Amino acid sequence: MAEEKYIKIADDYQGYPLDMFCIPKHYEQDLQHVLIPSGLIDDRIERLARDIMRDFSHEAIVGLCVLKGGYKFFTDLLDKLKALNRNSEVSVPMAVDFIRLKSYRNDISTGNIEVIGGDNLANLEGKNVLVVEDIIDTGGTMTQLLALLKEVKPKSVRVASLLVKRTSRSVGYRPDYVGFEVPDKFVVGYALDFNEYFRDLSHICVINENGMSKYSVKR
Ligand code: HPA
Ligand code: MG
Repeated sequence: MAEEKYIKIADDYQGYPLDMFCIPKHYEQDLQHVLIPSGLIDDRIERLARDIMRDFSHEAIVGLCVLKGGYKFFTDLLDKLKALNRNSEVSVPMAVDFIRLKSYRNDISTGNIEVIGGDNLANLEGKNVLVVEDIIDTGGTMTQLLALLKEVKPKSVRVASLLVKRTSRSVGYRPDYVGFEVPDKFVVGYALDFNEYFRDLSHICVINENGMSKYSVKR
């Protein structure tokens, strides 16, 4: 099993001022700071790809993208894996599958995940599955997804999450591959959303009160 290595971002880390980077005008008032610039995300994913390749040596992988938040990480990770595949003596065949889940309203987990679309999980029987997720927050969603996956009897299941949140609400779940461990704040950008907004922001940023109220939906 992979040893757990990740970049830890401290609780008091203030990131970068918004005006040091290009932020869409429509979000300028809605963010506290840039937590992880997109270039750093890219560099970290390159290394995650290498770690994944090392562990899956020679065995075909099915990448299972958890939509929607995971789509950027998934495509960027896939690009890095493809680059490794075409540049080394050993390579690993890869297939892709998608699953769409829903569990959050505003910044609150609704507790139960709903599969609201995607490929038939039964196709994963006997496969080496790499689940690709944007963020593990409480871990509740992933724990439930893993229980669902187990029912279809894959050969193996590993989980790559770009972010893991350090939170007292955690159920204790840790993924196999982690990009960054982040403070207990609501983060957006790089496909992470707040009620579907901010996916069109390249950097991972911390949302502010203004952004929360502007884009909140009625419960
Ligand atoms: N940001 C975006 N989506 C999320 C988060 C977060 O901090 N936690 C769980 N889903
Ligand atoms: Mg989300």
